[in-house]
Amino acid sequence: MNTLHLSAREQKDIEQAKQILASGELVAIPTETVYGLAADAANPEAVKKIFAAKGRPANHPLIVHIGSVEQLTDWTTDIPSEAYTIASAYWPGPVTLLLNKAPQATPVVTGGLDTIGIRMPAHDVFSTLLQSSGMAVAAPSANPYKKLSPTSAEHVLNSLGGKIAAVLDGGDCAHGLESTIIDLTQKPFRILRTGPITAAQLSETLGEEVLSPKAHSVAVPGNVTSHYQPNTKVRLVDAENLPETNGNKIAYLHLTPLVASAEFTAKQMPSDVAQYSHDLYRSLDDADKWQCDEIWVERPPVTEEWFAVHDRLNRAQSKL
Ligand code: TXA
Ligand code: MG
Repeated sequence: MNTLHLSAREQKDIEQAKQILASGELVAIPTETVYGLAADAANPEAVKKIFAAKGRPANHPLIVHIGSVEQLTDWTTDIPSEAYTIASAYWPGPVTLLLNKAPQATPVVTGGLDTIGIRMPAHDVFSTLLQSSGMAVAAPSANPYKKLSPTSAEHVLNSLGGKIAAVLDGGDCAHGLESTIIDLTQKPFRILRTGPITAAQLSETLGEEVLSPKAHSVAVPGNVTSHYQPNTKVRLVDAENLPETNGNKIAYLHLTPLVASAEFTAKQMPSDVAQYSHDLYRSLDDADKWQCDEIWVERPPVTEEWFAVHDRLNRAQSKL
C-alpha cells in the first residue's frame, strides 16, 4: 500500500483524510499528545485494521476520540457528574475518561471489555475533522505494538509506512506523551496511566483524592510493562554514579551537563519537564539511529510532575 503524506495545513488534504476514514481505511492523525492511528469507531471492520497494522492483540482496548461532549452518550453509559466536571476543565485536552461502555458501542473497540476510554483531543485539525464529520474515531498511538509512540509524521511513516492509507502531517505534537487515563467507573477514582494532567490537578478539580498508583501494576490488557521501546537497549542511570561502558558504544541522553563527552554520543535533554516530555520519544528515536550498543538515560528528578516521564522510561527500559 502506498501511504499518502497529507498536509494538515491544506484544507483539501484534511477533506481527503476525512473521506479515507469514512471509507473504512486508516489515517494517522496528529493530536496534542502523540500521533493517533485513526479509524471510524462506528465501523468494526475499519477498527480491526488498526489491530492488524499495529500487530496489536485484539483484546487491547482502544481510546475513542470525540469532537463534542454530546457524543459521550453514544459511547458510554452511567456517566457520573465528575466526568462532566473533568470534561469542562480539561477538554479538549490530554485526559482520557474510563467509563462504562454503552451497549451499542462495538466491542471491537474495547477488546471485549465493558468499559471504554474516551477523550476529546485538543489538536485544531483533529477537532475540526471530528466536528465537521460528526464521526467518532478510535485511535491508539500510531506505532507498531510495544514500540515508541510517534510525535511526528516522519516517525509514523518510518514505522507504519506502507501499512496505512495516509498520514496527516501536522508537525510535532505539543505534549509528546500520551494522555492521562482516569478510571471513573468506581470510587475512589484512580489514574490508570500517568500523563500531562497529574493526579494532583484532577484531585483539585474534583475536590476529592484521585489515586495515582506509582507502580503501573493495573492489570488491564494494553497496559503492559514492556512498552514504548526503541530497538536499542535502554538503561536508566544516575549521573553521579555512571556504570562502566565496558567498551560499548553508548548513546547518552543526559540532564546534568557532561564534563567529558568524548566517551558518549550524547544529547543534552531539557530540564523543563514539559519540554523534556515533548522531546522524549523523538530523542529515543534519534538515539536508536545512532547505532549504539546501549542508550543511557539520566534519571530525571523524582517529583510528581515527572511521574509520567518516569513511567515511560521505566517501560522503555524493561525487556520482558
Ligand atoms: O494520548 C493518547 O491517549 C493517545 C492519542 C492518540 O489519543 N492514544 C493512546 O492510545 O495512547 P493507546 O492505544 O496507545 O493507549 C491506550 C491505553 C492502553 O494502555 C489501554 O490499556 C488503555 O488506554 N485503555 C483503553 N481503553 C481501556 C479500557 N476500556 N480499560 C482499560 N484500559 C483501557
Ligand atoms: Mg500506545
